[in-house]
Amino acid sequence: MPIIEEVAAPRSLERVGMHSHIRGLGLDENGKAKFMADGMVGQVKAREAAGIAVQLIKKGKLAGKGILLAGPTGSGKTAIAMGIARELGEDVPFVQIAGSEIYSSEVNKTEFLKQAMRRAIGVRISEERKVYEGEVKKIEVRKTKHPFNPYVEIPESVIITLRTKDDEKTIRAGREIAYQLMESDIEEGDVIQIDAETGRISKVGTTKEEEGLFFKKKVNLPSGPVLKIKEFTYTVTLHDLDVANARGNIFGLLFSTGAEISDEVRSRVDETVKKWIEEGRAVLVPGVLFIDECHMLDIEAFSFLARAMESELAPILILATNRGMTTIRGTDIKAPHGIPIDMLDRLLIINTEPYKKEEVREIVKIRAKEEKIEISEEAIEYLAELGEKTSLRYAVQLLAPASILARGGKVEKEHVEKAKEYFADLRRSIKFVEKLEGMLQ
Ligand SMILES: Nc1ncnc2c1ncn2[C@@H]1O[C@H](COP(=O)(O)OP(=O)(O)O)[C@@H](O)[C@H]1O
Ligand SMILES: [Mg+2]
Repeated sequence: MPIIEEVAAPRSLERVGMHSHIRGLGLDENGKAKFMADGMVGQVKAREAAGIAVQLIKKGKLAGKGILLAGPTGSGKTAIAMGIARELGEDVPFVQIAGSEIYSSEVNKTEFLKQAMRRAIGVRISEERKVYEGEVKKIEVRKTKHPFNPYVEIPESVIITLRTKDDEKTIRAGREIAYQLMESDIEEGDVIQIDAETGRISKVGTTKEEEGLFFKKKVNLPSGPVLKIKEFTYTVTLHDLDVANARGNIFGLLFSTGAEISDEVRSRVDETVKKWIEEGRAVLVPGVLFIDECHMLDIEAFSFLARAMESELAPILILATNRGMTTIRGTDIKAPHGIPIDMLDRLLIINTEPYKKEEVREIVKIRAKEEKIEISEEAIEYLAELGEKTSLRYAVQLLAPASILARGGKVEKEHVEKAKEYFADLRRSIKFVEKLEGMLQ
């Protein structure tokens, strides 16, 4: 009998990577922003506003409404949206799409948006399951080249040793589990559970005393055997359930990527989930749908979203834009941020300001640590100045090429200077092209 193995859709890890240091909004118990906490630095007013939005969401007062983050490129809009999701809870889904993506996918605009919305709604399920549970003593991820892009490495398999007070087990697992481990940033010292049958992973906490920026829940080393029957809590999304339901048969399995899902399947899933909730087997976890470059959405997409926000199974909508007055796509009407008035009426607007030098300096430091790049004080100072003059994004982006120029060693100011010569920031690039325009004609 032929064996059919499901090939996991290649995902982009990078997107998540750029904001991997964001663990929350970094506010104190009075909602005031600490200068640096949860991986967040500065941008104080916007973070505090976002904190108020989180309170509103938790009280259900933002239902049917949304948030608009408006500010220049690289001012932390995506970071704040992610911080909001993290504040809502660790397993709260955060789905990020760009306005322009609705035109490029193989499904139509509204189907694309529907799927995005349903990926942003979690269902937390608790069941008695056979699980491997323990502290991660050792974790070794084997990587291979991406099937479609040989320059990107993706995990292939993983060997992981789990221990408890009384037991220790080493297991080898495939790509799906390796992905999950990487995406949820699991490292030695963390206590995790792995569902023995489905391979789903749930993070319990860490046994390490954490210091510094990134806190995890502190837990004790578990006792008893590693493999056992235990209550296991995991979160799937409505979209996961839609896909699993739409498949139904082996052919569905082969043709399941990117296809349309019928509304019939979706309402069947909704019914089932509602039943689980009534029976106390599941809890709904509405997440965040973050739409970047929202001025790229057209009038149809906006009216679809406005309607969808009203439904009972809707995620929290966060839009972001760097545009001021501009035309609403699909019309010749000008509107603030290119957003139709009926949608604007539903949005709480938070402005993000360009970063000051002290803020850029700290963010660059965090990113260097996150990307495991060693860098001198002088080079950081130089990047901070550069970031203030151009943009935070540019300063952060120069880290990787500077590290290449330093041949993987410690990055010094000269490496950053060289990287700056090689790679232009936006303003410089525009000036360059404009100067040449006359010559090119
Ligand atoms: N206040 C902040 N604290 C920490 N990191 C930040 C902050 N603002 C932005 N970043 C990081 O700087 C980079 C650029 O910010 P980003 O959120 O992408 O800006 P925008 O979405 O406004 O273009 C990202 O890596 C982001 O995580
Ligand atoms: Mg962004």
